Amino acid sequence: MPNDILTSSAEWSDLVSHKRDMEDVHMRELFEEKTSRFSDFSIEYEGLLFDYSKNKIDTHTIELLCKLAEARKLGDLRDAMFSGDVINLTEKRSALHTALRYSTSKNLNIEGESVRGFVDDTLDKIKNVSRKIREDSNITDVVNIGIGGSDLGPMMVYNALKPLADGPRVHYVSNIDGQCITETLKNLDQETTLLLIVSKTFTTLETLTNARTARDWLAESVPKEQLSQHIIAVTNNTEQALEFGVTTNHIFPMRDWIGGRYSLWGSVGLSIAISHGINTFEELLNGAHLADEHFSNEPFDNNIPVLMGMLGIWYRNFWDYPAHAILPYSHDLRDLPRYLQQLDMESNGKSTDIRGHEVETNTGPIIFGAAGTNAQHAFMQLFHQGTTVIPADFVIAIKPQHHLMQHHTHLFSNALAQSKALMEGIKNIEEPHRNFEGNRPSNIFMLKELDAKRLGMLLAFYEHKIFVQGVIWGINSFDQWGVELGKAIAKNLYGAIKSKDDEILKEANLDSSTAGLIEYFRGIQEQERDAD
Ligand code: F6P
Repeated sequence: MPNDILTSSAEWSDLVSHKRDMEDVHMRELFEEKTSRFSDFSIEYEGLLFDYSKNKIDTHTIELLCKLAEARKLGDLRDAMFSGDVINLTEKRSALHTALRYSTSKNLNIEGESVRGFVDDTLDKIKNVSRKIREDSNITDVVNIGIGGSDLGPMMVYNALKPLADGPRVHYVSNIDGQCITETLKNLDQETTLLLIVSKTFTTLETLTNARTARDWLAESVPKEQLSQHIIAVTNNTEQALEFGVTTNHIFPMRDWIGGRYSLWGSVGLSIAISHGINTFEELLNGAHLADEHFSNEPFDNNIPVLMGMLGIWYRNFWDYPAHAILPYSHDLRDLPRYLQQLDMESNGKSTDIRGHEVETNTGPIIFGAAGTNAQHAFMQLFHQGTTVIPADFVIAIKPQHHLMQHHTHLFSNALAQSKALMEGIKNIEEPHRNFEGNRPSNIFMLKELDAKRLGMLLAFYEHKIFVQGVIWGINSFDQWGVELGKAIAKNLYGAIKSKDDEILKEANLDSSTAGLIEYFRGIQEQERDAD
């Protein structure tokens, strides 16, 4: 990472003054001026079209953004990531999720272990076990217990490719709220259910609490000696998994160099291989690999994740837009916004740079979204006429997974209509409430089909977009220290809440709000108990 100051660089200053020039330009005029705008600002790759023409840019903007990327040594850092360099400095780890999809050319060794050997063995194990469960077992339901990256990735992919699923059903349990596991187990039969406990650390409170509850539920009808046949663990903490009662051959390994939110490509994706079969899982990896190749080889101005990332920088830092919306026009992709929320906000929600200094600029935007067309009837009023501009990504597949073509044509026209309306707006002087200012940016991702390959590509492009932005901001996109404080406090409060002893509450020396809320909670619980 370059040590020079980001905001006083010549490349940054050029963008500041270019932004001033662009302030008075309306995208409508840019489209009128140049009929080639769509072909100038769109890229097709392996059945995925990225149209970024509806942005507040001209060719000079792209030139300047690419220069900034070069000045921040994006190419070198990208290569360092792919080569397994220790780029996650605070945790002293590589970030090698790309190796899980065979995108690492070098024969890497980490702590004496061959990365390629580990990846091959893991994939073989996923292949064998998923085949066995699908073909030679009576398992009809899998309960995937995990949270964050051990839940969102596989759950999103499972739903995104639901029409292709032909194996056991998968239910994803993540929330520590007992209602989540109660609802899930209610309709399942212990004899035909497999628990998949997914936790890189095997210490996550939510996952272990749910796993214990599920194990107790299993034990209600499965004989003790058969219990372990119904439990598989995916973890980097073999010791804890064994202690929990998982047998060695039922433990799927992870490694430190695979970040939780980047982990669906390995053992964490086991539920996908079980439900969809190994071919679909491998197609997903293949799609991600194609995206890795594109990111590694294309020049910046023709590089989809570089452009996605740099456009984000343009809006976050030069136009001061605080958020970015993800709008999949696809029911099956409805979980994409939540998945990208973790991927992006846990990676780039940072205010300390890699040198340990406070960052100079705004970093990661607020990511949110929902499936279109539902989003139109919920929050998109603000996109069109609100005082905050929110750049958006529309995602749509050309070929639907169903036969209701009329529905699909409506869906498609709505996606295009939203992006066009945001760009063009419409002047209405007589009725100001009908005035649409327009000039609001969006990208469109058009997939030939929502299949495993295109999904893999799309997800890997987002991973790399986030990496690109982390490089520009000079932050570590691969740690997540921000989640630790709340975890530690919750652990301490648990004792104070559980105890009936007021002295313990006093000793905890809590602020009056937290103490008052605990007292109120305990008071109501006591009243309920007395009433019973
Ligand atoms: O919320 C923090 C976090 O560490 C995420 O990064 C991770 O995906 C999640 O918790 C789950 O962690 P684990 O897989 O170790 O249970």
